[in-house]
Formats: sequence, C-alpha cells, structure tokens
Amino acid sequence: MREQIQALLDETKAALDGADTPQALEALHARYLGKKGPLSALLRGLGQLDAAERPEAGKRINAARAEIESAFAKREARVKQAARLIALSGETIDVTEPREDYQLGAYHPITIILDELVELFTGMGYEVVEGPEVEYDLYNFELLNQPKHHPARDAQDTFYIEDNIVLRSHTSPVQARAMLSRKPPIRIISAGRCYRADEADATHSPVFHQMEGLYIDKGVGMSDLKGTLETFAKRIYGSDVEVRFRPSFFPFTEPSAEVDLTCPACGGKTGCRVCKGSGWVEVLGCGMVNPKVLELCGIDSAVYSGFAFGMGLERLAMQRFGIPDLRWLFEGDARLLGAGRNGARADGIEGRRGL
Ligand code: DAH
Repeated sequence: MREQIQALLDETKAALDGADTPQALEALHARYLGKKGPLSALLRGLGQLDAAERPEAGKRINAARAEIESAFAKREARVKQAARLIALSGETIDVTEPREDYQLGAYHPITIILDELVELFTGMGYEVVEGPEVEYDLYNFELLNQPKHHPARDAQDTFYIEDNIVLRSHTSPVQARAMLSRKPPIRIISAGRCYRADEADATHSPVFHQMEGLYIDKGVGMSDLKGTLETFAKRIYGSDVEVRFRPSFFPFTEPSAEVDLTCPACGGKTGCRVCKGSGWVEVLGCGMVNPKVLELCGIDSAVYSGFAFGMGLERLAMQRFGIPDLRWLFEGDARLLGAGRNGARADGIEGRRGL
C-alpha cells in the first residue's frame, strides 16, 4: 500500500507539472481527486485489509489526499499568474484614440447667486456664519420680537418638531445667535435652507434658501442700509437697475421696508409677465433692527443701532436666469444647469412645462 501511494503521488505531481492551462488542471483534478479516482479506490479497498492495519492505512491515504490537494493549489496559482501575464501583454492602450465627448459640469443657479453674494458682502467686511436648520422657537421667533400667539407668526406656516423646536422658517434666527454671541461691531451674512408648510407651485416650495445680513455698530442709520442694498442690487443685476424702498412691517425691524428693483426681464419700461406689468420686482425685506430685539439679544440699544435684511435666493436666481418655475430649481434637470453657464438663460430650454 505504501508503495502504491508513493507511486500515485509521483504520478500526480508529474502530471501537474505538465498542466499549463486551467482546463488541463481541471481535467487532472477530476482524474486524481474525483469519485472515480485512485484515491477513492484506495479508500474503498480499506475494507479488505486486516482490521489492525486499517487505521494506519486510512491515515496514509488521507495524508496523500492532502498533499495532492496542496500540490493542485500551488499549480493553480502559477497557472493563473501566467494566464494574467499573457492577457496583460495583449492589452495595450492606444493613447491617440479619440475619446467619447464628455459634458462639462456646471454650478447650480442658487450656488452661482450665493457665491456672488458672499464675494460681494465679504468684500464689504461681512463675515459668513452658519446657523442650524432645526432651530429653537426662541431664536426663530421669540428673540425676534414674535412671542407665542403673536399674530405675525401666522404669516409663516412653520413646521414644528416639538413644542419649542421648529424647522427654521427664515434665516433671521442667525441674527439673534450672532448678537448673543458677539460684541458690536457685528457684520455677518448667513445663507441656507429654510422651511415652510407651503404647497409647491411656480413660486413656492416647502424648502427654499434665504440669505440674511446684519450690521450693528454705533451710529448705523437707514442711509447705510440703502447704500449697502443699492450696491448689492447693482452688483447682482447690473448698474442700470433702479432700487425702490417701500414701507413694510416685520416684527424684528423698525422701520421696515421691502426693496423692489426695476424688472430684470423688461427693464421696468414696458411691464411684462415677470413683473406682472408693474415694471418692478420685489427682492428682499429689510429694516433697522428693532431696539426691542437688540435688548432681547443683550445689546444696549442706547449705544448701538443696526440694520438687517433677508432675501430669498430662489427668487434672485429665477429673475437673474429667467427661470419661470421655482420647482425647476429642485428637479435636478441637467439642462437647467446650462442656464447658469456663461450667463445663458433658462427661457430657451425646450419642452419644459409652461414654455
Ligand atoms: N425674515 C424675513 C422673511 O423671511 C425677511 C427679513 C425681513 C429679514 C426683514 C430681515 C429683515 O433680516 O430685516 O420674510
């Protein structure tokens, strides 16, 4: 039996040395390790041995099987490696072959507007700060002079998470946070997502973006506010644009104003669909920070004054790029991105709803 096993080992190894392909290896595997192979035959022959010899012979057969299996594994690794080298030597890269055309990426219209605003305001000494989107009622309303049950709260349909926690309905809570955590002079802008329980339509979305600005120092007046916002308007809409301040009301500013610009679509001359015939479009809310808000946020209103403003970025992007439906900004249609590129407008996107 011992000689038989040794002969089998020698024969298998010799056969393995000659196997150069996975197919040849597979055939050998079936021949030597398969059910009908010599090892299985040896095992079956155990029954004819004396009982005393059986355990020893069984061990030998199993050891031989282990040795053969390991020889197969080694050979297999070498064959695979050789096959890889052959395959690689056949694969060359033709670096002169023309590639498929690719599409250049583009910034989202909101990002383009925001980048410009950040550049403009940081150039005027403002610092960019952030605030949380999940906000305490305290910052979103109370510190901004809108105590619970204040009627002005109804104007904004707010998502409540808990009794005193909301999804911020505007970026104004960042003002309160800035005043509480900094000492004047304070010059900050803050942009980000805001939330209101509005049905999505051509001019509304439950998620939208605002940018807030706040400037507090000694002797800040309404003329500073006007100058700042005129600079903003001309930078974003071009030097021909005219700016109009209309009295308004916000609980956190006194006096308050809304700012209109001459319509970017018709230039304010003829009146059109964008400005609904009036020649003006509304772009933001602003005012002198209400002394009550200064005091609530720990700033001495006898010494300091300031202004604040807040604008919707969707509206700015729509007016600037001729996007007729606010929902487009959230739909991820790659064609819209082209509208922001090289000053192109969205009006020309074919096949869009409403065009
Ligand atoms: N928070 C206001 C809104 O969402 C916009 C606003 C108006 C912000 C006046 C201000 C401001 O900072 O002074 O409608």
